[in-house]
Amino acid sequence: MISLRDVRVAVPALRPGDPDKVLLDDVNLELAERRIVVIGANGSGKSTLLRLLNGLRLPSRGTVTVDGHDTAKDGKQVRKLVGFIFTDPLSQLLMSTPIEDVELSLRASVRGKAERLARAQALLDARGVGHVAHQSIYDLSGGERQLVSLTSVLAVEPTVVVADEPTTLLDLRNKQALREIFTHLDQQLVFSTHDLEFALLAERAIVVDGGRVVADDEPGNAVAYYRDLMR
Ligand SMILES: Nc1ncnc2c1ncn2[C@@H]1O[C@H](COP(=O)(O)OP(=O)(O)OP(=O)(O)O)[C@@H](O)[C@H]1O
Ligand SMILES: [Mg+2]
Repeated sequence: MISLRDVRVAVPALRPGDPDKVLLDDVNLELAERRIVVIGANGSGKSTLLRLLNGLRLPSRGTVTVDGHDTAKDGKQVRKLVGFIFTDPLSQLLMSTPIEDVELSLRASVRGKAERLARAQALLDARGVGHVAHQSIYDLSGGERQLVSLTSVLAVEPTVVVADEPTTLLDLRNKQALREIFTHLDQQLVFSTHDLEFALLAERAIVVDGGRVVADDEPGNAVAYYRDLMR
């Protein structure tokens, strides 16, 4: 379970003397549902909120805990529990080919190199991207990259997957494939999206506006609220 208590995120102003810029404020959330979506306008604070969940960003005030582990004190443990999928998978693929990237994710759990490589290949096969295992990540299509980064994140066996607008770069077919994967994922999933139809996949929807949570409801109601807000 992820808990955010009295969370504020602020960054120093660009000009000395100006007040800090507040990106999020007064956020109190207990994230227990299996499928949670975060929606809101550009610049409302969605990515900032998601980044708090695995310690990519730390609160300036308040606390964020994952199964009792404080993201500010126990970042290493938190990152084991919470996998993060970026909108642009290139920003998270560390190695030059899919097989190497997934193999790296298996370092902690599988001992021998040969065994790790075989396991990495099997995981890529299972996601339908085994045929590009040895291709440069720069030569993969956006959809292939997204599936490879998902494979790498899941290889660490996190208990929570956080995904920031994971379908933005995908065509209709890959969007549907990802939707299918997300529906059947064992892990708890917290994701953001501008695709309001995709948002309906969740059990709970959090609407962010101007750095505050302005609605927290079942997705049908929350999407209606958001549409009104944008009018
Ligand atoms: N390091 C930073 N310094 C200053 N401002 C920042 C910083 N990071 C984010 N912001 C600002 O905080 C606000 C919220 O950003 P965030 O990325 O969370 O929005 P978002 O809801 O994810 O938007 P989008 O839908 O465009 O992805 C934006 O106005 C952004 O410019
Ligand atoms: Mg964002």
